[in-house]
Amino acid sequence: MEIKKVGVLGAGAMGNGIAQVCAQVGYEVIMRDIADEFVQRGLKTIEGFLGKSVEKGKLSEDDKKATLGRIKGTTEIADLKDVDFVIEAVLEDLDLKKQVFGEMDGLTRPDVILSTNTSSMSITEIAASTKRPDKVVGMHFFNPVPLMRLVEVIKGLETSDDTVKVTWELTEKLGKLPVLVKKDVPGFIVNRMMVPQCMEAIKIYEEGIASMEDIDKAVKAGLNHPMGPFELMDLTGLDIHYHVNEYYHRELNQELKYLTPFTLKNMIRANKLGRKTGEGWYKYKK
Ligand SMILES: NC(=O)c1ccc[n+]([C@@H]2O[C@H](COP(=O)([O-])OP(=O)(O)OC[C@H]3O[C@@H](n4cnc5c(N)ncnc54)[C@H](O)[C@@H]3O)[C@@H](O)[C@H]2O)c1
Repeated sequence: MEIKKVGVLGAGAMGNGIAQVCAQVGYEVIMRDIADEFVQRGLKTIEGFLGKSVEKGKLSEDDKKATLGRIKGTTEIADLKDVDFVIEAVLEDLDLKKQVFGEMDGLTRPDVILSTNTSSMSITEIAASTKRPDKVVGMHFFNPVPLMRLVEVIKGLETSDDTVKVTWELTEKLGKLPVLVKKDVPGFIVNRMMVPQCMEAIKIYEEGIASMEDIDKAVKAGLNHPMGPFELMDLTGLDIHYHVNEYYHRELNQELKYLTPFTLKNMIRANKLGRKTGEGWYKYKK
C-alpha cells in the first residue's frame, strides 16, 4: 500500500515537527489536536520554522507555501479516517495513548500502521488496545524534529516484520536515520541512557556538589554534548522527564536508582514545566 496521507496526533513540540517533515517530502498531512488554539499554535510554529529556512536561503518561498498547503490542522478525529499511516505524538501518558490508539483502530482502515512517538512506554501495551497489534510500532523522533536525524523504530512483542519495514522506509524517506530497537523495553536506547543521566545531574545539584551552570558546562566541555542536562530538560519539557523516570521506577522493579529526585517532583507540582516557556530549571533558580 502506498502512503500518501499521514495522520499526526498532537500538534505540540513533536507533533508539529513531525507534520512539517512529512509535508516537506510531499506527504499530505492531517494534524489533529484537541483544541483549535493548540492546532493554530502548531501551524504557526511550522510556518515560523519554514520562514527562517527561507530567510537563510535553504528553502524557496514556493516550497514553503507548498509545504504549508499540504498540512491540514483539525480538531476533528474523523478527519483522519482515510489516512495511510498514523504517527501519534500526544502527551506521555499511557492511558491517553491507549485511548487514542483504540480510537484510531476503530476509525482507520485495518491495514493502516499506527505508530507512537512515545519516549519510553510499552509499545506492546499500547498495541493491546487495538485489534491490529502487528501493525503497531514505535517511531521515536527527537527534538527538534526538523533538525534531529535519529528515529528509533521499536518492535513491540507482536509488531510484524512488514510493519517495521514500512516504518523504516518511511523514516528514510523523511531524510532521517532509523535504528532498530529489537526489544520493547522502557526508554529504548537513547532515553534509557539519557534520562538517568539527567536525574543524576539533578542529584549532583541537590547535594550541593556543583551549580546547574557548572554541571551544564562540564557536560558540554567534558563530554562534548551540545547542551548540558539542565538546558536539555528545559528544552524538552520537565514533565516528560518526570513521567519517563516515574515509568522506569514502576517498570524496572522499583529500583532505587530510578527514584525521581524531589527537586524535579517539586518543579512538576509547581507546574514549572520548561519547554522554553521560561519556567524551567534556569528560571526557577533565579
Ligand atoms: N519533547 C520532546 O523532546 C520529545 C522527544 C521525543 C518524544 N517525545 C514524546 O512525544 C510525545 C509528545 O510530546 P510533546 O513534547 O510534543 O508534548 P506537547 O505537550 O508539546 O504536545 C502534546 C500535544 O498533544 C495534545 N493532545 C492531548 N490529547 C490529545 C488527543 N487525544 N488527540 C490529539 N492531541 C492530543 C495536547 O493538547 C498537546 O498539544 C510524548 O509522548 C513525548 O514523550 C517528546
